[in-house]
Amino acid sequence: MSETSPFYLQGFLAPVADEVDYYDLPVTGALPYELNGCYARNGPNPLPGDDPGNWFLGAGMVHGVRLRAGKAEWYRNRWVRTNSFVEDAPYIRADYSIDLTAVPANTNVVACHGKAFALVEAGVPYEMTFGLDTVGPFDFGGRLKTAMTAHPKHDPVTEEMHFFGYGFRPPYLTYYRLSPEGELVESREIEVIGPTMMHDFAISSGHVVWMDLPVVFDVMTLSRTGMPYRWDDAYGARLGVMPMTEDAKVTWHDIDPCYIFHTANAYEDDSGRVVLNAIRYRPDAFKSVWTEIEGQYDPAASAAILGRAHLHRFVIDPANGVSEEQLDDLDIEFPTWNIDRTGDDNRYLYAVSVDGIVKYDHRNDSTEFYKVGRDQLPGEAVFVPSRHSRGEDEGWLISLVSGAEDTPSELLVLDARDLTFVASVQLPCRVPEGLHGSWLPYDEEQEAA
Ligand SMILES: [Fe+2]
Repeated sequence: MSETSPFYLQGFLAPVADEVDYYDLPVTGALPYELNGCYARNGPNPLPGDDPGNWFLGAGMVHGVRLRAGKAEWYRNRWVRTNSFVEDAPYIRADYSIDLTAVPANTNVVACHGKAFALVEAGVPYEMTFGLDTVGPFDFGGRLKTAMTAHPKHDPVTEEMHFFGYGFRPPYLTYYRLSPEGELVESREIEVIGPTMMHDFAISSGHVVWMDLPVVFDVMTLSRTGMPYRWDDAYGARLGVMPMTEDAKVTWHDIDPCYIFHTANAYEDDSGRVVLNAIRYRPDAFKSVWTEIEGQYDPAASAAILGRAHLHRFVIDPANGVSEEQLDDLDIEFPTWNIDRTGDDNRYLYAVSVDGIVKYDHRNDSTEFYKVGRDQLPGEAVFVPSRHSRGEDEGWLISLVSGAEDTPSELLVLDARDLTFVASVQLPCRVPEGLHGSWLPYDEEQEAA
């Protein structure tokens, strides 16, 4: 790869050329016997010779490691066969309508009512088998009329799933709610000032938290960067709080301009305030990261494309506006937590930095850290509870750790209680740095299929 190649085709981000299958993988340590499922992780991986013009536009490739009964049965990687991947279908058709299936489904892979979805915020979900084959686009029986965020939120109390879709044509923002049975039962347009890039949101026990931040739609940037979004100093920034009750209005509160790709949970405190933890980019940090996502190397920045943001807390008081506080000075991304605590005051939060995995204890205001090797970059650390867990951190963190160019990768399993090493699955190939992943637990029905 030449020095003039786009940043997203080099180093840890360099795509792999092939789909492969490897079986009976070597394991260091002892894989927990009860882990029965597949750790799957998505990320952009353009086809050989293809430069999509922007890291976020690379074709989605899902990497999976199948664990069962203390063994690592297989590793495989598969491109998500979307209509743009298979047929080169254009996102904007000749009649200017949008094809929500013509997307690189490259951002996340999540389990939802016995299905696995590959997600990207520009399009509809793509259903995948648990063996990582593409089934096809999924629109919840025709009820999903817009794109779907790659970061839906499951409410562990009501068993409902909340998500949204945004776009650069009206309706700019639509809220959706899925019943405990998996039926899309609510679609609600949310009024916003204009189209912005809205990557994530949050839920507390009774509210949805929206982020209207100054990365705005601008068609003029499309031809230059491949993405029609840019930072806008004049747009301002605001958080919106919306009660989950029918037809409730959003109350917007101004905050200092920033960008947030990822929230780190929200909850309601004893005073009725909504508390949002999030990974916050200062304007200069966002511009630097965005430049690299567009393909240009920023020599002032670190080696990783993400990891220039900080854990931040926003306390949204209906009467007094928003107070903000940076909780830590470590550069982090990809926040995760025990999702049984979504919407609640979770004690523990996990995230990754360029050289390791960090655990935050909000109650004790302390951190623990697991350092990876010098030529490694940790991926999102997904928390998997142990079967009979009582404590919030009783379980494991699973992270796909990328090696530098030509260096094999590994699936790392840590004890979430103290970040001690449990096991590592050695992969015979490298896995590029990517985006988000999930633990897809197998049940007997999927096993038979
Ligand atoms: Fe994300």
